[in-house]
Amino acid sequence: SQVDIDASAYEAGEHESYMRKEILEQPTTAQAVLRGRLDERFGTAHLGGLDMDARDLRAVRRVKILGCGSAYYVGQMGAALIEELARIPADAEAASEFRYRDPVIEPDTLYVAVSQSGETIDTLLAVQEVRRKGGRCVGLVNVVGSAIARECDGGIYLHAGPEVAVASTKALTNMFLGFALLALQLGRVRDLSIADGKRLVAGLERLPGQIEEVLASEADLVDVAKELAEARSLFFIGRVRGFPVAREGAQKFKEISYRHAEAYQTSELKHGPLALIDPEVPTVALVPSDELTERNIGALHEIDARQGPLVVITHEEVDLGEIGARRIVVPRNEPELDPILLTIPLQLLAYHAAQHLGHDIDKPRNLAKSVTVE
Ligand code: AGP
Repeated sequence: SQVDIDASAYEAGEHESYMRKEILEQPTTAQAVLRGRLDERFGTAHLGGLDMDARDLRAVRRVKILGCGSAYYVGQMGAALIEELARIPADAEAASEFRYRDPVIEPDTLYVAVSQSGETIDTLLAVQEVRRKGGRCVGLVNVVGSAIARECDGGIYLHAGPEVAVASTKALTNMFLGFALLALQLGRVRDLSIADGKRLVAGLERLPGQIEEVLASEADLVDVAKELAEARSLFFIGRVRGFPVAREGAQKFKEISYRHAEAYQTSELKHGPLALIDPEVPTVALVPSDELTERNIGALHEIDARQGPLVVITHEEVDLGEIGARRIVVPRNEPELDPILLTIPLQLLAYHAAQHLGHDIDKPRNLAKSVTVE
């Protein structure tokens, strides 16, 4: 069922902006996308709207995700989830480029269009390209009955309620959760064990409460955000699961602060961008506790040695040793689900930087909430 928010009655209320209201709504809206879709007994998800039975799901050999801007970056997070949990090759592509390269559409590929508004023209035309060539395309869409939702073969509604701020927050979180549900269902009709399925179901059930925990630490981020706002240019870095998080963090920051924010894979730093690091260029680094922590810390040393200011989003047990950094700690979930908890502080950093700079947060210059013309 759709979240019970009447769009016409949806107002920023006592909040100074819709963006802040939408950031703070996430514990509730995250519950809405999960509601009725988790199966604790079998450690799986039920997504009736996909209109695919177990045989159809098993026939999928590849997944291609199509979205624009932040929806594309969350699509990269989704592709990683699908590949990890279902062991199906998956990737995301900018929907705005897709149709121009006359793509090969394969019958055993599942195409997934992802869009908050459901009206983004580039994503809609990508869906039409897939379906015109006989492919199956499902949607991860927030707005019920929107053009993309109608054009797809089936899909998962995101139930985030109306989103007004141009910078998308709660809808993106629900896109991630929608991908987690899809990955779980695709995985459990294949070789994902029931133990892993149950582990992820329990992780998803914990997530809304953990999002609330991150939001509760908002006050600690305000000064960090103000410092970042003073920089003319900054980097966001992460590896593997953390890289799309870095891309999304940079996107959010540049949209509303108008600062040059660029995302890199941490591993790529020494192949070029390290040349730009100096005391004027801060780096926001994603360093979760995982098999890459030590390597990530190695890169932080390289930045620190050049006096690059560092903000590190990390887990409690990660020890940064001598490195001079502002440390922002988020709670741990299952490693596959951690990206969304790492994303929430980046929303808050972007928000408070833009607030500090006095920008119009809900309607940043030059941007529209949904891009409906080519
Ligand atoms: C997100 O903060 C941006 N405003 C933008 O990148 C957005 O995600 C993109 O335009 C796609 O919009 P959609 O989800 O409505 O299709």
